Amino acid sequence: MSGKELLVVTGLSKTFRIHQGGRKAEVKALDDVSLTLSEGETLAIVGESGSGKSTLGRTLLALDRPDSGSVLFDGQSPFDLKGDQLRRWRRHIQMVFQDPYASLNSRMTARQLVSEPWQSHRELYPTARERDHRSDQLLEMVGLKAQHAHKTPRAFSGGQLQRIGIARALALDPRIIVCDEPVSGLDLSVQGQVLNVLKDLQRRLGVAYVFISHDMSVVRHMADRVAVMYHGKIVECGPVDSVLDTPSHAYTRALIAAAPSLSSL
Ligand SMILES: Nc1ncnc2c1ncn2[C@@H]1O[C@H](COP(=O)(O)OP(=O)(O)OP(=O)(O)O)[C@@H](O)[C@H]1O
Ligand SMILES: [Mg+2]
Repeated sequence: MSGKELLVVTGLSKTFRIHQGGRKAEVKALDDVSLTLSEGETLAIVGESGSGKSTLGRTLLALDRPDSGSVLFDGQSPFDLKGDQLRRWRRHIQMVFQDPYASLNSRMTARQLVSEPWQSHRELYPTARERDHRSDQLLEMVGLKAQHAHKTPRAFSGGQLQRIGIARALALDPRIIVCDEPVSGLDLSVQGQVLNVLKDLQRRLGVAYVFISHDMSVVRHMADRVAVMYHGKIVECGPVDSVLDTPSHAYTRALIAAAPSLSSL
């Protein structure tokens, strides 16, 4: 992919101060992280538990504020914005979470879940008729049917729920979606289906993904490039085949060696 550069991240650092056994300690969750993301591309983020992947994802959405460094989407930093401007900035970068059961309100119908982001972006689909029409379209784009629109989460399988999570992330027509382990909570048999929904949407819409995963076979299937995180730093970043086939950093080699080899998707 060689689309226009959408996101330019420079020198992000973030330290958490924690209490551990009565003592104060510091965790450097992000340590001078820089990366770029172009239109329509997928950048995977891999690394062991605690290496800072989710903190990076949250910072890209301006849900966490870094101690230093910058996130520029289309040249604009969310940390310089507030109010209406920040609200408009947020539209462009959305998130799909690991656990759709926990991240989707169990009392809302599929249509309500997909429509909820429009409550703070009324200008997109001003009338109820437009919103209903668009939410049905979005459900269909992720492989669900109109008859699913009025069901609540307990009527859905994990894979179907994650499809709703994806439809919801698409509601504001984002240019970037951060997917934080989007299939690792799902049965192996449906992981491939959900990944293919994401791939299909990318082809149709040109959306770019930051794809956080610990599963190297998933990363190979999904990503154009991969960044390897270790203790809050990106230790290696490059095209997915070259990083996975000929890793240059000892940590990447250890990570690949430790990964269980799964049958290809
Ligand atoms: N809100 C917080 N308060 C204190 N420490 C935090 C907070 N969020 C993250 N951390 C710490 O920052 C480090 C990075 O956490 P993060 O959740 O980003 O890792 P991760 O790579 O996503 O891990 P996992 O693969 O387990 O999801 C960890 O040591 C974590 O304990
Ligand atoms: Mg995480």
